[in-house]
Amino acid sequence: MIKAFIQERIFHLQTKNTSYIIKVLPSKHLGNLYYGKKLDFDMDYNNLELKHKLEVGSQVAYDKEDKTFTLNTAFLEMPTFGKGDFREPMCHFRLNDGSRITDFLYQNFQILEDKPKFPKMPEAFGDHIETLEIELVDPVSSLQVNLYYSCFEDSDIITRRVVVMNKAEAPVIIEKVLSMNLDLNNDDYSLTSFDGAWIKERQINQQIINPGILKIDSKKGVSSADHNPFVVLSNPYCNEHQGKCYGFSLIYSGSFEAVVERNPYNQIRMQMGINSFDFYWELLPDQSFVSPEVVLTFSDQGYNRLSQNLHDLIKNHIINPDFKTKNRPVLFNNWEATMFDFNQRKLLNLAKKARQLGVELFVLDDGWFGQRNDDTSSLGDWFVNQKKLPLGIHKLAERINRLGMSFGIWVEPEMTNVDSELYKNHPDWVIHHPQRACSFGRNQLVLDMSKPEVIDYLEQALTKLFTSANIEYCKWDMNRNITDLYSDSLSPKDQGKLSHLYVIGLYDLLDRLTKRFPKILFESCASGGNRFDLGMLYYMPQIWTSDNTDAFSRYFIQYGTYFGYPQSVVGAHVSDTPSMQVLRKTPLETRFNLSAFGLLGYELDISLLTPFEKKVIKKQIAFYKAHQQLFQFGELHRLASPYKQNEMHLMVVAPDKTEAMLGIFQSFEQPNAEFNKILLPMLDEKKTYRIVKRDQYFNLEMFGHLVKHALPIKLNAKAMFFHLLKNRYLFKTETDDQIVEGDVLVNNGFIPKQKFMGTGYNDQIRLMGDFGSRIYYIREVNENEKNEEFKL
Ligand code: DGJ
Repeated sequence: MIKAFIQERIFHLQTKNTSYIIKVLPSKHLGNLYYGKKLDFDMDYNNLELKHKLEVGSQVAYDKEDKTFTLNTAFLEMPTFGKGDFREPMCHFRLNDGSRITDFLYQNFQILEDKPKFPKMPEAFGDHIETLEIELVDPVSSLQVNLYYSCFEDSDIITRRVVVMNKAEAPVIIEKVLSMNLDLNNDDYSLTSFDGAWIKERQINQQIINPGILKIDSKKGVSSADHNPFVVLSNPYCNEHQGKCYGFSLIYSGSFEAVVERNPYNQIRMQMGINSFDFYWELLPDQSFVSPEVVLTFSDQGYNRLSQNLHDLIKNHIINPDFKTKNRPVLFNNWEATMFDFNQRKLLNLAKKARQLGVELFVLDDGWFGQRNDDTSSLGDWFVNQKKLPLGIHKLAERINRLGMSFGIWVEPEMTNVDSELYKNHPDWVIHHPQRACSFGRNQLVLDMSKPEVIDYLEQALTKLFTSANIEYCKWDMNRNITDLYSDSLSPKDQGKLSHLYVIGLYDLLDRLTKRFPKILFESCASGGNRFDLGMLYYMPQIWTSDNTDAFSRYFIQYGTYFGYPQSVVGAHVSDTPSMQVLRKTPLETRFNLSAFGLLGYELDISLLTPFEKKVIKKQIAFYKAHQQLFQFGELHRLASPYKQNEMHLMVVAPDKTEAMLGIFQSFEQPNAEFNKILLPMLDEKKTYRIVKRDQYFNLEMFGHLVKHALPIKLNAKAMFFHLLKNRYLFKTETDDQIVEGDVLVNNGFIPKQKFMGTGYNDQIRLMGDFGSRIYYIREVNENEKNEEFKL
């Protein structure tokens, strides 16, 4: 809810648990009084303000009549440069006379019952989202800036965006236009960012905010795996379950910046938006520029609540509503199984086997088109490779449908290879500088998405593909960053627009295709997680998290990703072992258990599976399907962090707390292991729960020669018989089935079976091993159900 106190010139935005308070300062600048835990509308707003009675030493007074007021220490909503604020400006302009001074003063406001929609831009949406619009004007240049603040009350989210309008007679250059500025008093804040690179995306990093400027950004044309466009500010007392933190996430998929500045007065300035590096935008009279939207949230209950706020927003206000609670199919993807080396027979053989395991969707990855047999050719030629698939996509899809699975396909529309029909016909369609040799990434070049003819071509080519067969899923890949930034369709003074126009062109194409093919489930991908952001999620309801499918690496990648994104958007596949990316061996059950806390898929050569693996995978898929809604859409909680402990604990809980899944993921087997009592504060203290361990199986190989102690028969681990047996025999892990009161689980914790300690083994001992894991199904039970057999 938004209330305007006209007399006091105060705007108070309230969500379920937070307040954001803005004030028009006596100087007419827009100030921030407060952002944090909810305050009453009915209060003395004077008590929020820091007021000086004497001038602050060596500062420039804004107005010679009032020496106590300087912009340099004021908490501002839209700071610019030139009138005494020497911190980073949120927006910066070069005016027609060459000056760079602007001074935006309050003009007007309105409270809109519904959030205004800005075309061609992804955004958070919803019914009756109250929005505050504030108009600021720089009287000298006649530049106008409208600030928009929208309240997503239930999610405890406020979104912001800026629209710059040139109301002057002359053009103006925008040199910087960020989406937000928030000035806070420093509460010993640290900045948490989610950084990495290919196959190590969204690793958690926390750094102290020292005096000066701390900036993370992307100059790659995509939001990038280097730094996710999502950051957190938190004080030292904050952990997963308690403490104060702020989250900021940008709804944008291109180059961005996030800046934190600490000034000598221990004030913190937080900013986020399009990267101002290499950005300039000429705004002609009557033109306007719309910034991307940024999402702000606050939690005084630690990081979990902060993440849940963001998860809630993504699930209810970012993702296409048609997919909001739609079960995502268990998929098989042929990439790690075959790479480019496949033909129709091979694919159908894999498909048959996948179906037998319970897979619901067969995805044909890279290599099905043009002359593509490796990564040197054919991107852009979106027609079938007749040699590999003589019957065409249509017939392949038909056969796969007949097996009882839906069919999906891979594309990488934004790219081309020099060795392609597309490039031969349109060499001018790639981003390049005519006098410079192009730089290549994965042997490919980037199409100039600022050109309407490129967007039209891609729309036509993909429409042809999507209507040629029963395609129900599409993986949209993007495998290189953008260099050689130059477009022959832009004038020299407009070249600084190219990065942003690229993103706008991409959004336009996605908008057209997702509207034309509303039933296709799109999955975004950029060499895994190189473009994992809210902008892409607006068009595509899920993202391929990382090309790293090694389960242990995934502990860290998924744990970091969950900070800003719910498991319902996190593609997670079971692949082969040792893994392709790190050559590490991990148990099949762990590969599944972790993927189950995401969108489950299988990506390995299933024609080579042993009978043991087939039986185990069949059971995994059946279990996941039986609890698909809970796994995919339950409220996610992080309990123990792999960054800090030897175990990671994850939990998904049904909204009514009647059901939950707990995952325990161990890093390394430790001698004389620690004992576990796992507090489950998210359960209902008044309910009684039954906790049953999912049936999981060891491969006898784990025991080697020691197998004679685990089985009642004597076996030689080097003998052929053992080899045959281990590929068939399902060795059951310990049984665990408990009835425990909710208040005990909340306050004393769940006590799983004792861990293996080197003192012996039986079916009551929890032998985890390196990278071992367990999943426990937790369900409310009433008196009658307590003794019933539990169906898993
Ligand atoms: C990169 C993706 O992340 C992989 O999953 C796969 O689709 C390859 N591209 C195909 O080229």
